[in-house]
Amino acid sequence: MTNINADKLSSARFAQATDAFVEVFTASVDFDQRMAHQDIEGSVAHAKMLCACGILTEQEREAIIVGLAQIGQEIINGDFVWSVKQEDVHMNIEARLTDLIGVAGKKLHTGRSRNDQVATDIRLYLRSETKQILAQLTRLQSAILNLAEQHADTIMPGFTHLQVAQPITFGHHLMAWFEMLNRDRERLQDCYKRINIMPLGAAALAGTSYPIDRQMTADLLGFSRPSANSLDSVSDRDFAIEFTAAGSLIMMHLSRFSEELILWSSAQFDFIEMPDAFCTGSSIMPQKKNPDVPELVRGKSGRITGHLVSLLMLMKSQPLAYNKDNQEDKEPLFDTADTLINCLRAYADMVPHIEAKKAAMYNAAKRGFATATDLADYLVRKGMAFRDAHEAVGLAVRLGLESQRDLSELSLSELQHFSALISDDVFAYLTLEGSVAARKHIGGTAPDTVRAAIQSARQNLLSAANEL
Ligand code: ARG
Repeated sequence: MTNINADKLSSARFAQATDAFVEVFTASVDFDQRMAHQDIEGSVAHAKMLCACGILTEQEREAIIVGLAQIGQEIINGDFVWSVKQEDVHMNIEARLTDLIGVAGKKLHTGRSRNDQVATDIRLYLRSETKQILAQLTRLQSAILNLAEQHADTIMPGFTHLQVAQPITFGHHLMAWFEMLNRDRERLQDCYKRINIMPLGAAALAGTSYPIDRQMTADLLGFSRPSANSLDSVSDRDFAIEFTAAGSLIMMHLSRFSEELILWSSAQFDFIEMPDAFCTGSSIMPQKKNPDVPELVRGKSGRITGHLVSLLMLMKSQPLAYNKDNQEDKEPLFDTADTLINCLRAYADMVPHIEAKKAAMYNAAKRGFATATDLADYLVRKGMAFRDAHEAVGLAVRLGLESQRDLSELSLSELQHFSALISDDVFAYLTLEGSVAARKHIGGTAPDTVRAAIQSARQNLLSAANEL
């Protein structure tokens, strides 16, 4: 009996050729060729292990390694011919290897399956993407630290409900962003531990009858250990979901960061000047300078959360072990990694050039009665109950609103009208500088506290950046 699918690696059992549309429909090579170098790296380690275990000869191992190196070079040079007939990256490389080295190429797949192979490739790929994301995150975090240092005592209004609440320093606000990104870093670093486990040797699902040494392959590939269960190894993609969840949180944080930059660069806020190099004009309105980079990043955050939901739904209800559904994990995953790297890079490049308009920030804090809480706290220190103080200050604010003056601009006798407890020491508390300086506990906005927070964050970032 002849093999009608002789041009394929795995089709002898079929009496009919694959439908032409199905061939294209089920192929993944258009996108998974992106993992070619990981696939080669995994195959080299597998071949070395097979030889060490007496399953391949040294000649066969060498022929495989040399052949794979040549294929790697062909791919880099753009000379490699990808074919949907070979379905995916794994079969394309294996077919080419057999073209190049003959029968030894056909022995490479001994003791493995594409199921453990693809799971390994994704993990190798995610390891390197995670490192690149962390590198961009570190650049962004250190840019934020530098800007925060310049603005440790730049006063601005802090908001709740987007209404002026209390004065803070711009440095303190920047450090809030730093903290969010720092938790993002920790999440990614933690996720890396679960990415860095090796599925190879699980084969199709049940393991293999060859006397393989999985620890050796794991060591060769720099994985922390071989996976513990063969079925789990080939089926679950929870590490990819976790990576995308960590990515969604990064993008959610960047979207909030973006939103504030967009608001602050508007004429209505006018708190910052965005660097020209990161903005674009309008094709019709000559005066426009649009904060495109933050807007685009804000928009891209939705798409990463979309990928997270896609991957969760992809995995949901799948019976053990491998199912073809899992081929659908790659595109959302690749796009998540690309988007994260690009957005973090754009932000790391842009943040050092953000200019704070100190006078506008200061005036905005003054206009919003931002020290009202300080006046209430002052009255409490003088013996008034907080609720009564809240009431008295509310009346003072009303007078300020009616006469268009800040609390610090009311006279002593006007203030004393609201409480006899007020004396001329009150003005030290009503200034914006006094208000921020008073908040000097851990996590507070006092300039010296902010400087100390920046210093310890810088130390932590240095050691964290060396961790992965
Ligand atoms: N292209 C497949 C994927 O990405 C590789 C594994 C296919 N395994 C199989 N038995 N069909 O998941």
